[in-house]
Order: sequence, then structure tokens, then C-alpha cells
Amino acid sequence: MLSEKMAEALNIQLNKEMYSAYLYMAMSASCTSKGFKGFANWFMVQYQEEMAHAIKFYEYVHSQGNRVKLMAIDQPQIDFDSPLAMFEKTLAHEKFVTGLIHGLVDLAGEENDSTTRDFLQWFVKEQVEEEGTAGNLLDRVKSTGDSDRALMNLDTELAGRVFHPPA
Ligand code: FEO
Repeated sequence: MLSEKMAEALNIQLNKEMYSAYLYMAMSASCTSKGFKGFANWFMVQYQEEMAHAIKFYEYVHSQGNRVKLMAIDQPQIDFDSPLAMFEKTLAHEKFVTGLIHGLVDLAGEENDSTTRDFLQWFVKEQVEEEGTAGNLLDRVKSTGDSDRALMNLDTELAGRVFHPPA
């Protein structure tokens, strides 16, 4: 069983993952409203990934015999100027989440909770990937400069992103 403190922290992280899903859904909606179907698809797949992260926390808390407590999800920003603004926000948000995950790892260490520390290793690796992908896409959007055509080519490419449920 998890300590009260650890269970509370994991329940909060579950909420943060739900917020992340909501944020990317908002970005997807914003892209759709601007006619960027490919970017909209990319953010909707991102939404699905975040939901899968939330479920991992949900299942882990239950697997340890603790109680899942659901909290209100904050309203995300809903208006964005451009895909560039969205990818800037995405990278900043993923860096923020990485900090949260490392905070949980530290807490598991303080509590001598090696089971939770092992569980969190998947997220530590995932965050390296998440930041890498967001940074790469931010660079690519920046490199389109003022070219609408280059931006639309990237939009077409991102229409091909498919969700793969995590192992
Ligand atoms: Fe669940 Fe993108 O971090």
C-alpha cells in the first residue's frame, strides 16, 4: 500500500495528466477552427497519449490498494494565435510535466518506496521523448518562416500521426 502522501501526490499527477489531455484537445480544436487538419490530428493523438498517461496513474494507485480521488480539471487556454504559439506552449508544458515527474521520483525516494520509483521510470523516459518531439516540431514550425506553403506541407505530414497505446 502507498503512504497517504504518495497516494495524494499520484492522484494529483493523475489530474495533471487529465489537464494535459484537455490542453491538447483545446489546441486540436483551435487548429480545426483555423483549417489546420493535420496539426489538429497531431494534437488529438497527443490528447490520447495524455489520457493513457492518466490511466496508468489510475491503475497504479488501485493496484497498490489505495483510493483514486478525482479532482476538478482546470480550464485550459482555448485561443492560440498560431501553430507556432501552440508548439511553444507544448514544449513549455512538457518541461513543466517533466519537473512534476522528477518531483514524484524524489518523493518516492524520500519514502523509500522503490515500487513507485520503478513505476515512475516509464514516465521519466516518456518525458525525454515528449520534450524531444515537441522541441523538434517547434523547430520545424519555426523553420517554415513566412511560407504558408511550407506550413501546409507540415500540416499534411502531421495528418499521418497515429495513436499507439503505450505498453
Ligand atoms: Fe503526460 Fe505529455 O506528459
